[in-house]
Amino acid sequence: MLITMIIRTSLLLSLLVALAALVHAVPTLRRRDADIESLYGITALRQDHSGKRGDNKQKYFHESTFHPHYDGRFAEKVLSYDDRRANLVVLMKTYLSAMHEIGTETWIMHGSLLGWWWNRKIMPWDSDVDVQVSEAGMDFLAAYHNMTIHHYQLPGEAKGRDYMLEINPHYVNGSTADRLNVIDARWIDTHTGLFIDITALRRDKEAEAEGKMGVMMCKDRHRYEEAQIFPLRDSFFEGIPVKIPYAYAELLEEEYGKKALTRINYQKHHFDEEKMEWIPLKGAKDESKKKPRPLNPKLRIRPGGGGSGSSVGTL
Ligand SMILES: *[C@@H]1O[C@H](CO)[C@@H](O)[C@H](O)[C@H]1NC(C)=O
Ligand SMILES: *[C@@H]1O[C@H](CO)[C@@H](O)[C@H](O)[C@H]1NC(C)=O
Repeated sequence: MLITMIIRTSLLLSLLVALAALVHAVPTLRRRDADIESLYGITALRQDHSGKRGDNKQKYFHESTFHPHYDGRFAEKVLSYDDRRANLVVLMKTYLSAMHEIGTETWIMHGSLLGWWWNRKIMPWDSDVDVQVSEAGMDFLAAYHNMTIHHYQLPGEAKGRDYMLEINPHYVNGSTADRLNVIDARWIDTHTGLFIDITALRRDKEAEAEGKMGVMMCKDRHRYEEAQIFPLRDSFFEGIPVKIPYAYAELLEEEYGKKALTRINYQKHHFDEEKMEWIPLKGAKDESKKKPRPLNPKLRIRPGGGGSGSSVGTL
């Protein structure tokens, strides 16, 4: 009697253990501290393409020498149009999955939000993804998840791939004067060097000092009314659940102009309203001749927003 009970209990226990393992295995996420040297090994990188040596010493993140949307420690080359697009989609999915696991609320902004507006997808000519988190969210990521490596099993890739979350130590300096460190954190694909820029949405203390309440800002000099962002809305992006800011149309108009929401020919792409897809026109896939640039070079910054010249929010 006692023995059968013990056997039953141990059976139940092993079942539970197996179940727990299964739950843990989906999605395959493994965390450990990043060892940059070993990551170099993984990417089979022989040369560091980061612009580190040329960069100002105060600048924390170093983009590659050949393209500002690649991390030079991991990137070897600019990807082709199709490759980049496929990799950005996976980058987005792994990021959202990791933030969900970690429990940090995040939402899409800038070019990613514009892509969402059109067809809930990353725009095919976009070479990065832009997201925001709250300041408290950034504190949490910095305290517990800086330099963590997240391993994902990807379809068609036997070994899977490592993604790294890296927090800029200058994120604690909320001043827009810190122009070399406007990006607070990055989610980096250690295989391709592509990354997601993560910026913290902060209370605008300067505006508060002038008696204006409910004004939010990022170090990249974008300013928002709190009520434009919150409450966040639930939607889908690239087929997965995502949060978007409350007044998305207004935000997009402010940043890119009214036309960006209706113009169906852009960057050698035509928006096919039946297929709900941006169709590349002749020459659109020719990456070598293209320089990354913002959709609207003069970023619309609210009056009193502190000037222009920010290179963030580019497409
Ligand atoms: C994250 O880790 C890197 C590497 O150790 C370090 O240089 C950086 O200062 C850290 N960031 C924060 C916010 O502590
Ligand atoms: C923030 O960075 C700016 C630019 O480097 C610097 O002038 C300022 O003193 C920093 N503020 C703090 C609180 O460290």
